[in-house]
Amino acid sequence: MRQAHFEAFQPVCPACLRRGLEAPLRLDAGAQEDARGIHAGVLRCTAPDCSQAYPILDGAPILVPDLPAWLASNGHLLLQRHALPDPVEDLIAAALGPDAAYNVIRHQQASYAHDHYGDLTSSGDQGEPGLGAAPGAVRRCLATALARLPAPHGPVLDIGCAVGRTSFDLAAATGGLVLGIDLNWPLLTIGRGVIDQGELSYPHRRLGLHFERRRQSVALPGAERVDFWVADALALPFRGASMAMGMAMNVLDCVSDPARLLWEMTRVLAAGGGAAVVTPFDWASHATPPGAWIDGPVALAALLAQVNTGTERSGLGALLPTGPGVEVDWQVRLHDRASMQYAAHMLTAVHS
Ligand SMILES: C[S@@+](CC[C@H](N)C(=O)[O-])C[C@H]1O[C@@H](n2cnc3c(N)ncnc32)[C@H](O)[C@@H]1O
Repeated sequence: MRQAHFEAFQPVCPACLRRGLEAPLRLDAGAQEDARGIHAGVLRCTAPDCSQAYPILDGAPILVPDLPAWLASNGHLLLQRHALPDPVEDLIAAALGPDAAYNVIRHQQASYAHDHYGDLTSSGDQGEPGLGAAPGAVRRCLATALARLPAPHGPVLDIGCAVGRTSFDLAAATGGLVLGIDLNWPLLTIGRGVIDQGELSYPHRRLGLHFERRRQSVALPGAERVDFWVADALALPFRGASMAMGMAMNVLDCVSDPARLLWEMTRVLAAGGGAAVVTPFDWASHATPPGAWIDGPVALAALLAQVNTGTERSGLGALLPTGPGVEVDWQVRLHDRASMQYAAHMLTAVHS
């Protein structure tokens, strides 16, 4: 956790937010830090009747409302290291089987890291057989969103940043502080590797359970203004009206309550702050209960109008669309011979 981000984003206790209280967090004595920031320590709620402690692990504060639940489902991932030689990883992967968390994680890391960072890998991906999707799809979506929004003057949130390249792009494009948040530890640690070690390291999937580790030094423009935290998009651990921009790229159809995501973005954005929501409407019942699925652009516009009615009544303002939504291409590479191609939809809006 970088000191500049702690001061600018002023995190509040996500547990207290549930009872409508914006209780600031403070850093306990005894944290371990170096020139890059705090890599281990404890953030504590200042509300006397709460005092909930939140760990900072490998540089990332874990700011979720139900900390025991997040730790229980992610504890083994915190210990998992993916820096073994390819043949050793292959051996472990085969022994554990394709459905083991070990392999599910590598698939996710490979897909998102390819799209976010594939342009940087020295071997390049052009020569691969089959359907290898060209990297950079989400970055192109982001560029479209930025062109439709006013320049931010203050902290920028990249919600559901995954492996984090969009956070670096936001830092380069805006010149300000950017915070990428995600619940997925193995994805977030790829972005943290870039800011903590200046190293990009991820598994690149070839076929089946065969992956090649791609590893290289990287120095991305504006990287010193980026930080990555674990936080829940549905309980953003920030004060109201404190952010200058909020991006939610391909996240809406991954959360359990899409309306709550729009509400939270409205709550934390300051007046005049820009927001972008991109979604391929690729719903899955394990992520979102079918009753909350949104059936395309018209329904999304209606949901935003409905959320706006509620947020305006609560004095939080509204997200006013900057124009009609636009269609954008987004794709995710699966392996050498497969990729998923999405027709995603983008809504951009400005906080009233
Ligand atoms: C489909 S991926 C998109 C990642 C990235 N924005 C992109 O477009 O390449 C969705 C991301 O949202 C994250 N996510 C899902 N639910 C979340 C939540 N409640 N809070 C924060 N992140 C969440 C996932 O872990 C995943 O990294």
